[in-house]
Amino acid sequence: MRTQVGIIGAGPAGLMLSHLLHRQGIESVVLEKHTREYVERRVRAGVLEQGTVDLLNETGVGERMRREGMVHHGIHLRFGGGTHRVALDELTGGRGITVYGQQEVVKDLIRARLEAGGTIQFSAEQARLLDLDTERPRIQYLHDGAPCELECDFVAGCDGSHGVSRRSIPDGVLAVLERTYPYAWLGILAQAPPAHDELIYAYHERGFALFSMRSPKLTRLYLQVEPDEQIEGWSDDRIWRELHARLETDDGWRLNEGPIIEKGITGMRSCVVEPMQYGRLYLAGDSAHIVPPTGAKGMNLAIADVRVLAQALAAYFETGDTTALERYSPTCLRRVWRAEHFSWWMTSMLHRSPGDDAFQQRLQRSQLDYIVRSRAASTSLAENYVGLPLDWGRTDV
Ligand code: APR
Ligand code: PHB
Repeated sequence: MRTQVGIIGAGPAGLMLSHLLHRQGIESVVLEKHTREYVERRVRAGVLEQGTVDLLNETGVGERMRREGMVHHGIHLRFGGGTHRVALDELTGGRGITVYGQQEVVKDLIRARLEAGGTIQFSAEQARLLDLDTERPRIQYLHDGAPCELECDFVAGCDGSHGVSRRSIPDGVLAVLERTYPYAWLGILAQAPPAHDELIYAYHERGFALFSMRSPKLTRLYLQVEPDEQIEGWSDDRIWRELHARLETDDGWRLNEGPIIEKGITGMRSCVVEPMQYGRLYLAGDSAHIVPPTGAKGMNLAIADVRVLAQALAAYFETGDTTALERYSPTCLRRVWRAEHFSWWMTSMLHRSPGDDAFQQRLQRSQLDYIVRSRAASTSLAENYVGLPLDWGRTDV
């Protein structure tokens, strides 16, 4: 088999890239190791920046999101017994976020690609990337146990943090810059109507908690837990007790409880690889960078990367000009590092670390207080939260 762009991974990055390339008349094949059912069911992030929403709409895959997504104009910070709203729209000239599950974006993109006659090879196992430093890179993989080979002009590594793409780059080429955090998030999805219409980030002496949602019938909630915590140690009862303790305040607001239909624990990590390219392999999304979930940036960064990559590939296939491809990594990394800083900052401000003393806690409280009292400080949070302009990473300005 031959194609112009071989894409590893059918997450938001890989699927959106395939969709954008198709709109530019460029052929691609997506190879995904899991089944369609698996990738469409996986519960992941759920906050779309304005720029992500705009791109989905402009490229014709926003119809269900416009119907089912929940547009939010503010978020809430809860600390010291009070709740404070950050008015995202007022502070950013009318921008906001849309709450719409990552797997819904994935479903919409898979449908759009298949309806347009695109090829997504699910259950493509044991992918191996070859000849990346030549003009004819190849991907070998197994499908139904049979060996297959895809010859391409370019390979896009959109296979997440545990994928094969990054590991296919020779040692010593990439710099890997990392932080781990001494806590994890326990996340649940509950069949309960959200008790509040906007997200609530809670700083609490028992640890961080987050109130979010997926639909008018589904509440999404998170708790800071120990990094090595096992989910078996958390009965539904214990989870609800902890959520009530950390999220509820004295003004009488109460969470709605309901059956827990999904629960899991995710570690917290920051990681960036530089550059996001080797030969004819371009890394995009989680395969190139990980952010802790506190800033809700993961999926948005993945979409921003492939927007840049699709434009650069289109320029190349149209004119043979490689300038935009050469700028791919520095262009993306400017946005990536802004999101890395924002996510690290939100995380550090809102979590309790083991060994934190009273001094550290006063610093966190002072920072939260500054955000809600200073328009400059809340504007900075809001600007980062709704997402930076599309041309943020331009290297020619
Ligand atoms: N071969 C083929 N596919 C693979 C391989 C492989 N060797 N390894 C991983 N994959 C697939 C995974 O099964 C997954 O479907 O690549 C896809 C990667 O998708 P994501 O992990 O969703 O990554 P990305 O598209 O970059 O989106 C980033 O995902 O983890 C969240 O918070 C993160 O929201 C962010 C988003
Ligand atoms: C979510 O709804 O999954 C979510 C929302 C906000 C975050 C992280 C996750 O910061």
